[in-house]
Order: sequence, then structure tokens, then C-alpha cells
Amino acid sequence: MDRRIVGRGGVKRSKYIVPCFLFVELVIMAGTVLLAYYFEYTDTFPVHVQGFFCFDKAFSKPHPGPEDDSRAPPVLVYSLVTAIPTVTILLGELASFFTKPEAMQEKTIVTADCCYFNPLLRRIVRFLGVYSFGLFTTTIFANAGQVVTGNQTPHFLSTCRPNYTALGCHSPLQYITERRACTGNPYLITSARKSFPSKDAALSMYSAVYTVMYITLVWRTKGTRLTKPILCLTVLSLAVLVGIVRVAEYRNHWSDALAGYLTGGAIAAFLVTCVINNFQQTQSQLPPLPPPVHPPRPEPSLLNMPMVAMPCVESPLEKLSGPQVPGVLYTGIT
Ligand SMILES: *[C@@H]1O[C@H](CO)[C@@H](O)[C@H](O)[C@H]1NC(C)=O
Repeated sequence: MDRRIVGRGGVKRSKYIVPCFLFVELVIMAGTVLLAYYFEYTDTFPVHVQGFFCFDKAFSKPHPGPEDDSRAPPVLVYSLVTAIPTVTILLGELASFFTKPEAMQEKTIVTADCCYFNPLLRRIVRFLGVYSFGLFTTTIFANAGQVVTGNQTPHFLSTCRPNYTALGCHSPLQYITERRACTGNPYLITSARKSFPSKDAALSMYSAVYTVMYITLVWRTKGTRLTKPILCLTVLSLAVLVGIVRVAEYRNHWSDALAGYLTGGAIAAFLVTCVINNFQQTQSQLPPLPPPVHPPRPEPSLLNMPMVAMPCVESPLEKLSGPQVPGVLYTGIT
């Protein structure tokens, strides 16, 4: 009886509401990509022009050459940022789809929003879709920060090459606000004004935090305890390394790299916890938990707290397979 009602509700919703949501999501996605494109490849949003102190040591580092000569070139960073989460999610979804019990698969199909849509495909599309949305959002955040602040890179003065005699610079305390103070290549000067926050650091940390949260929340490695921590720490240190290389090559200040880590990590954490519900099924599709068999203890408020928090950590479907699970939990706590 219960099942039929749920199934009918699912069919009804999939007919009208899901296409509408899909359309809205596609429009939002297209807008995000378009905005990222305008920030990245056009000068629709002009960069804020900041002045500088004469002979400022913080901005007088030698020019490190074009981005492609870096030890973390954009091609490498962007392909890793795309490939690592995609491969991780594909592997994890395929593995959990083919190893989970038969009954659970059937239940997922019956109660799904779109009955004609494979649950494996649904999960992959949802996780990768949210991932790419966050990737473009991170790009927009980083570009917007760079354009609004207009903080210079450490090699700004080597690129700008101001004529100090013409500007009348005598002491390092003089502040130059003149817009035509620079004599160097205008394209290079514009990119030397975009430093805060570091976009490469933000994208790497976004990708790493998303991947790490996926590995810790979804992957089940029963045999070894250290597989997941080692994978997570490797991915995280790769992301940190990107920022360190940028600082070491005088392409960014360390504060730019830190701000980039914060931006990317915060966007990934927000998307995973609030938008895709920690990679779990949505709660409404699950049958309610059976009431505990034992009578409540004298101090139930403290004892019940872990019970409330636990379904967030593991899939509640697994708990339901054993009928005496609440009893086991109670005896385990006391
Ligand atoms: C710097 O400005 C001075 C005075 O305007 C001029 O004589 C000199 O040639 C300029 N130097 C360069 C390298 O442009």
C-alpha cells in the first residue's frame, strides 16, 4: 500500500515539476557559464587601477615569464581539476552501484523521481553537474575579487616599468596614483593587476575539497583503514602545492593563495553539505525509522543525541536492513 502511493507520487511529480526544474537549472547553468566567460575572456568588467609606492620592494620581484612556463601551468592545473573529481565520482558510483544489495537497488528505482531514469545515471549527472556549477562559480568569485580589489602581483613594477625620473620619485614614501605611470606592455600590466585572490589556488582547493568529501562520505573501503586518508591527503596537498608554486614563482602573494584556498574550500563545503545533501539520497524518499524496542532510559536527552545525528553520517538504508539495529545502538552506548 505504502509503496503504491509513493510510486504514484513519483510519477506525478516527474511529469510536471521535474522538467520545469531541469529547465530552470539549465538556465542558471547557462547564465553562470556566460558570466564566467565574460570575466575570463573579455574586458566587460574593467580592473580597478591601484596606485603604488615608488621602489616598493613587495612589488619589484622579477617577471616570472608567461603562465605556460610555470611549474604548475594552466593546462596541467585545469586538466587535473577536471579529471580527478570526474574519475573519483565515476569510480565511486560504479563501485557502489555494483556492490550494494539487490533489494536496495530495486527500492531506489521504485521511489525515484523519474522512474525511467537509471539511479546510477541520476547520481552521476547530479554530482558532476553540481561540481561543474561550482567550478564556474569559483571562477566568477576569484575573477570578481581580482577585478574589484585590483591588488598587484609581486612582479607588478617589473611589468609596469614606471619612469621614476618623469614621475619625480625620490623616496620610497611617495605614492603614485597617476594612471599613465606605466610604460610597459598594457596587456601584461592589466594581468599584473589581478592578484587577489589566486584563481589557480581557488580552483585547485575547490576541486580537492569536493573530491575529499566525496571519498570520505561515499567510498567504502572495508579492508584498509588508511586508504581513504592517504588519498584525501594526497589530493589536498596537490591543491596546496599549486598555491605554493604560485607564491614561489612571484605570481601571487601568500595572502592571495590563502584567500583562494578559503574561497574554493568554502564553495565546495557549501555545495556538498547544503545542496547535494552529503551525496546521500534525499530524506523524503526513505521510509520512517521504526520506533526503538527498549523503553526510554532515565536520562534520554543525552543518550538520544547521537541517534539523531547518526543518519547524516551513513546511509540510513543500511541501518534499516537489520531489524534490531536500534537495540544494538542502545546497548552500545550504555
Ligand atoms: C623618463 O622621463 C624623462 C623625463 O621626461 C625622459 O627624459 C627619459 O627619456 C624617460 N626615460 C625613459 C626610459 O623613457
